[in-house]
Amino acid sequence: WTKAIILVGGPSVGTRFRPLSLSLPKPLFPIAGEPIIRHHIDALVKVDSIREILLVGFFENEIFNRFLTEVQLSYPHVTFRYLREYQSLGTGGGLYHFRDEILSGNPDYFFVVHADIACSFPFNEFLQYHKSHKGSATIMGTKVNKEDANRYGCLVSSETGVVTHYVEKPQSFVSDLISCGVYLFDPCIFEEMRKSVLDRRSIRDEEDEYGNVIYKLSGNADVVRLEQDILRPMASTGKLFVYTLKENDFWMQIKTAEQALPANNLYLHHLHKQPKPGHTRSSSCVVDASQNSNIPSVNYQINTPSRNQNFELVPPVYIHPTALIHPTAKIGPNVSVGPRVIIERGVRIKNAIILDGTEIKNDSLVMNSIVGWDSKLGSWSRVQGEPVMPNQADKSKNASILGKECKVADEIVIRSCLVLPHKELKSSVHDEVVM
Ligand code: GDD
Ligand code: GTP
Repeated sequence: WTKAIILVGGPSVGTRFRPLSLSLPKPLFPIAGEPIIRHHIDALVKVDSIREILLVGFFENEIFNRFLTEVQLSYPHVTFRYLREYQSLGTGGGLYHFRDEILSGNPDYFFVVHADIACSFPFNEFLQYHKSHKGSATIMGTKVNKEDANRYGCLVSSETGVVTHYVEKPQSFVSDLISCGVYLFDPCIFEEMRKSVLDRRSIRDEEDEYGNVIYKLSGNADVVRLEQDILRPMASTGKLFVYTLKENDFWMQIKTAEQALPANNLYLHHLHKQPKPGHTRSSSCVVDASQNSNIPSVNYQINTPSRNQNFELVPPVYIHPTALIHPTAKIGPNVSVGPRVIIERGVRIKNAIILDGTEIKNDSLVMNSIVGWDSKLGSWSRVQGEPVMPNQADKSKNASILGKECKVADEIVIRSCLVLPHKELKSSVHDEVVM
């Protein structure tokens, strides 16, 4: 049987996701109506042999309580737990620290998945591939543009998929095949980890004949970098393999706040093609009413207020059933509208995420933007930015991101701005960080 571990990080990572991570930890940020890591879980539970999913990170314990209760209700046959590192232990340190928990019940394999990615997650094919070779670890890989490759872990592999070289964020070009931050391991991987950790401890503990420490490793010996400390040395052993994503798969990193926008597009298209049970399909869109367990899984067409029935909708779009949308509004494509959002007459929204409780007054426009929780946009206002592409590195023009509880006055234009929470915008701004 199989387990999965999602590396959720902690409050000190994910700073590039500001201002949105000021209000909610990045792994729980809603994309296409679901927390980022809910997409991981929805894909993992499609693997028949999955019986336990562990979140590993260094956030406070309470952070994931409600989320875990909700996923537990959705998937009662899988056990969900959060394991907290006493401090940031790196991408491999948490795994090693909690090895007894991970090995308990003797799983045959375990997945390790980074939280900060969006992916089509073909876990079944990945598992099949892993079982078909004689290695003890498989990395999910994908091809990227040559000039972007050095931002990732780079892989060189043989025809048969054996990884012969692994270089983490190389200085110069190594390969355009990169690590997606998704792995499948045999339990024996802990043997490799043990060696690596012991090696490093023995260096730290080197003492002279009088018992004085003569060499002390800087930093914490419990910190393990999965990439440099485990995978790189494994690459020469023939035990590390790569599974390359297929053409119809997608993968991207979610590092900055604006990268939530292309992730939203990818997941909306993905869900639109293969709606899950509970997703209902009206003539023009996929509407998801199932993902908040407070709300029964219902047909949106019947249960939402009549006010929502006739607005113009360009799919794919996610609209929470408690949102109110005026019939003269036009929404989509690539829009997610959260709970209790109110959208008034003549509003136009595309390529956007509108978070819980936001109100948008008449005749306003939101495009290539994220509008934070409980914000208020006045009438005839415009919040817009430049389109964001997946895995795009350097760019001069940005999307607009409004933090929580921002207020935009009537007839104001916000273009390509990052606005911190609780700001009141009474004059138009462009290409600025509003602090
Ligand atoms: N539990 C825990 N503890 N998780 C952590 C820690 C930690 O101390 N540090 C990072 N993580 C989690 C993050 O939350 C994220 O999901 C993942 O590990 C990787 O984060 P980074 O350390 O920021 O690495 P990266 O994203 O720059 O690069 C990694 O991912 C790429 C794919 O997205 C590397 O593995 C690359 O090789 C890879 O290409
Ligand atoms: P359609 O094919 O009509 O969807 O246009 P488009 O998608 O090619 O262009 P765009 O998305 O820019 O405009 C879509 C609709 O929004 C059009 O009917 C525009 O008149 C309207 N629109 C554009 N800017 C604004 C605005 O600032 N406020 C309002 N209320 N509507 C706008």
